[in-house]
Amino acid sequence: MMPRAWLSILGVVCLVPSACVVGTAIADERTRYCILTSAAVSVVGFALTLRLIPLTKAYTLKAGLFGLDINKKGSREGEKKVPESLGLASGVVFLKGLVDYNAALATICFMLFLGFADDVLDIPWRVKLILPCLASLPLLIAYSGGTGVVVPKLMRGGPLELPAYLELGVLYKAYMVMLVIFCTNSINILAGVNGLEAGQTFVIACAVLFHNLLTLSGPVGAVPLLRDGHLFSAYLMMPLAATTLALLAFNWYPAQVFVGDTFTYFAGMALAVAGILGHFSETLLMFFIPQIINFVYSLPQLFKIVPCPRHRLPRFDPATGLLHATPNMNVVNLVLRLLGPCTELWLCIRILLWQMACCLTAFAARHALAGWYK
Ligand code: UD1
Ligand code: MG
Repeated sequence: MMPRAWLSILGVVCLVPSACVVGTAIADERTRYCILTSAAVSVVGFALTLRLIPLTKAYTLKAGLFGLDINKKGSREGEKKVPESLGLASGVVFLKGLVDYNAALATICFMLFLGFADDVLDIPWRVKLILPCLASLPLLIAYSGGTGVVVPKLMRGGPLELPAYLELGVLYKAYMVMLVIFCTNSINILAGVNGLEAGQTFVIACAVLFHNLLTLSGPVGAVPLLRDGHLFSAYLMMPLAATTLALLAFNWYPAQVFVGDTFTYFAGMALAVAGILGHFSETLLMFFIPQIINFVYSLPQLFKIVPCPRHRLPRFDPATGLLHATPNMNVVNLVLRLLGPCTELWLCIRILLWQMACCLTAFAARHALAGWYK
């Protein structure tokens, strides 16, 4: 396990002060107060999750909820029962950190429950796809925000006579459902390597949070409607990043616990809800570039055009301790094919570094493109 002390240092020494620095740059006093309070609640959430995971894992193991570590098959480590579904601990603490926003709470809570049901019942893949649709119902029904998009300056007018603001009506709600299905499933299928599910969620949550804080500290922070969306998203992202970091401490190589679909679904839903209710879903999708690539590359197997086994993981060589690519079409195998065999730890680090690079590029592109919409 990555020493828990190191992760605590990462969380407390790097994350909190940088959030506070950006937070204190926010001119509006009420917004600044809300951000700093939420940051403090998240630090408590981080500590609580660290305490709760060891307690919960004993219960999931006793209830027969465990998995075998496939990337260690053939070694003694691969025979150990690893407690599954520990996303339950981080999810419950995350939900405790939120006080308001009933529709968002109901949706994320519903997804956490359905993810846990999937871990227990092992629902077939095709049925899994529609679970996020069910969970998003409270959000769809309660959604009262705009159902249009701002058209970039370059595309306005022209033969289609596009206005600056294009009303999409019911199509916008269909887009919301598709976004929810994509976010939840795309994290779930970029998985199977210790630390990867929680790691990618942590990186994306931090990217979203910094996007929110930077926007709030700029001129948009003074426009109530836009400010409230980013403030709401920051309220979701701070506890999400904090509880996910605590989960990562136990899920990091060699994993003591697996996060389960409980986590992948709830985390994907929390990110989607932040993007939808914060009105920056196009920026959110830019942070999901590795997941988009993985999803598109996986399509032939997802649609069974190419045979799709239950697990699309690499092959472990117990003699060398290295992972080798298999013919399965996902980013995990693609990275091994492009960069050569490596250990599970390095495979996770390589993919997370790529995720960070993509988020940084998206972040820079987003702020460079801001003028296109004015
Ligand atoms: C998705 C992927 C599947 C991948 C699995 C790994 C698709 C269509 N499905 O399926 O290819 O194998 O996630 O999570 O792309 N596990 C490990 N090491 C880890 C994490 C998980 O060995 O670091 C194994 C354990 O046996 C664990 C199981 O994966 O019990 C969990 O799989 P599950 O989340 O149920 O798989 P899916 O989400 O259906
Ligand atoms: Mg899964």
